[in-house]
Amino acid sequence: MNRKSDTPFLPATRLRRSAALTVLPLLALAMPVSAELMQGAKLAPAHLEILASGDPNGSAKKAKKCVKCHGKTGVSDDDEIPNLAGQRASYTYKQLMEYKNDVRDGGRMNKTARKLSEQDIANLAQFYAAQTLTPMAGVSKPAATPALVDKGDSGRGLTACADCHGADGLGKDADYDAPGLAGMSPIYFVETMQAFKAGERANDPDEVMRKSAKALTDEEIEALSAYYLALGQRKPIPME
Ligand code: HEC
Ligand code: HEC
Repeated sequence: MNRKSDTPFLPATRLRRSAALTVLPLLALAMPVSAELMQGAKLAPAHLEILASGDPNGSAKKAKKCVKCHGKTGVSDDDEIPNLAGQRASYTYKQLMEYKNDVRDGGRMNKTARKLSEQDIANLAQFYAAQTLTPMAGVSKPAATPALVDKGDSGRGLTACADCHGADGLGKDADYDAPGLAGMSPIYFVETMQAFKAGERANDPDEVMRKSAKALTDEEIEALSAYYLALGQRKPIPME
């Protein structure tokens, strides 16, 4: 449901806005946490502090609500739903905060995240980071690395994926704090890349992913999804 439709007409919105303006400075004084999630391309120090205080077992009850879709340890059994196991805590924290604040549209994820406190989000981010996306039996790593991954394509202004996401595909914190991609559900991979390409997902700092995705063909996105799945030594999950 569109939250905007909760407001029936404009004057009420105006009133609410001016009220918000008067209480804003007071709120800023009362809140220990900086309201800004990001500082440049990274989580702001106040949020890194909350994240560091995250207790992997601190929100076990809330984590039960995630099991139905993301599995008990963040390993999903449905390729439409992303795995969370082993993902960088900073990335999971950022996404949940952005669903909570409607910066990223994730359908039901937004409503789910709204019910979580910042501390819950820190706890859950640490819980999933501590899990493992286990390799599947009999799946070996890809024999070759696609040029787009380790070299990019300067002609199209494409930076190598590995520069940001790591040669091992586990993500890394360099100029950008980039998530792990190894073992990612291929359907989710393609969907989220297409969402970047169309600008429907727009929560990437400096538009790094929107620019990359726009320069890629649909075939290249498919091929990259297969490469990253295999890099995590996983294979597609059979549809029921
Ligand atoms: C009804 C199914 C469902 C439930 C329940 C659910 N999720 Fe999700 N989750 C999804 C789907 C589908 C997506 C992908 C949405 C999108 O494309 O943005 C997602 C995305 C995410 C992402 C972003 C992953 C990424 O790689 O960007 C995180 C983090 C996440 N969920 C955490 C949670 C947590 C924590 C809970 C429990 C509090 C939870 N989810 C409950 C279905 C669910
Ligand atoms: C300049 C750095 C940079 C480069 C180059 C880059 N990425 Fe990213 N990528 C990021 C960052 C940062 C994010 C996290 C965006 C966010 O905060 O939501 C991301 C997110 C993603 C996601 C979404 C992950 C998820 O769980 O939803 C995918 C998929 C992805 N990148 C694939 C690629 C591929 C494939 C390439 C190479 C063609 C690539 N990226 C190149 C920085 C980069």
